[in-house]
Amino acid sequence: MKRLVKLGVVAALAFAATAASTAASAQTIKIGFITSYSGLNGNLGPYMERAVRLYLKQHEKELGGVKVELITRDDTGPNPDKARQLAQELVVRDRVNLLAGVVFTPNAMAIAPIATEAKVPFVIMNAGTSVITTRSPYIARTSFTLWQSSYPLGQWASKKFKTAYSLVSDFGPGHDSEEAFAKGFTEGGGKMVGSVRVPLQNPDWAAYMQRVKDAKPDVLKVFIPAGKTATAVMKNFSDLGLDKAGIKLIGPGDITTDEELPNMGDVALGVLTVHHYSAAADRPANKAFVAAWKKEYGANETPNFLSAGSWDGTAMIVEAIKQQKGKLDPDRTMEIFKNWKNPNSPRGPIAIDPETRDIVQNEYLREVRRVGGQLANVEIETVGTAVKDPWKIFKK
Ligand code: PHB
Repeated sequence: MKRLVKLGVVAALAFAATAASTAASAQTIKIGFITSYSGLNGNLGPYMERAVRLYLKQHEKELGGVKVELITRDDTGPNPDKARQLAQELVVRDRVNLLAGVVFTPNAMAIAPIATEAKVPFVIMNAGTSVITTRSPYIARTSFTLWQSSYPLGQWASKKFKTAYSLVSDFGPGHDSEEAFAKGFTEGGGKMVGSVRVPLQNPDWAAYMQRVKDAKPDVLKVFIPAGKTATAVMKNFSDLGLDKAGIKLIGPGDITTDEELPNMGDVALGVLTVHHYSAAADRPANKAFVAAWKKEYGANETPNFLSAGSWDGTAMIVEAIKQQKGKLDPDRTMEIFKNWKNPNSPRGPIAIDPETRDIVQNEYLREVRRVGGQLANVEIETVGTAVKDPWKIFKK
């Protein structure tokens, strides 16, 4: 029975591959866009979709009459079975030319084999576990890896602090962040005094924070997925009095994600993070991006790092459409992706590494400060320039 089901999928995908080449001759490019609109941190999906739509709106004139249709689907949070099913439907039934989106690593991993079998290029605009891009030659990533932020964070922290405790969500990006930070921190002479992996959904925060408090580290380094989970960490850090006990909170920028800062309150002040994107960055390209966002979506709205990954991913897709005059060949598309760069993205200069199809970008040390009455991730130093995914370098 299992075998029959599998054969059915392969046959359907073979059909889809033929169908995709038919679709390619039409002048509408279909993007199957899978992200989270419900479930854990389900508020994040719109930060991605809005970026895609805004980029397309600004640049559709450059496409010489080719139309781009965005077909959006809700994967309901970290839910690989649902993501796989949606990707299959998008490929087989909707005959999309491209797949894109995805907040969560398990979902990206589930979609990867479908991209390979159907030869549908898949642009990852968030999910950040290093291994993902190795799972299909049809994946290119415009977001980040946790190694990119957490390794330089560990190196930087080792110069300021003697002891650290690591707390991460127990799934792919958490494991990467834990390993990368510990490597950077201990190589620099720091000592890890504790390390804990907490459930992705609804952990007993108070119990974990109490454990950290009892261990009295100089710093608590946290990775949890951006969104509401980040605010839960802040609240419990403060409620259990870790700040008053003199423990410094640090992490990759996911823990001070721009859209949640207004919900976090003063406990976030002074939190130090390393990341590739801040809405408060004063690069002209970022100011233009944030201004366009506010004009389109309202003065109180702010893009976040998921928006930046989706904005740049859409720029890369638009380039592939332009170069092929609207007739997308999957292998040619991947070649274009591999050689794509933008010296002037909102996050600074970026490029795709042709060997790994992963993003190359700067990493900035930031501090949460009050700017014009509001909390902001203020970039204070560039701690890594043109950083390639360190995991791919170390694991070679
Ligand atoms: C992921 O699942 O890869 C992920 C999710 C949220 C983040 C970072 C990474 O903030």
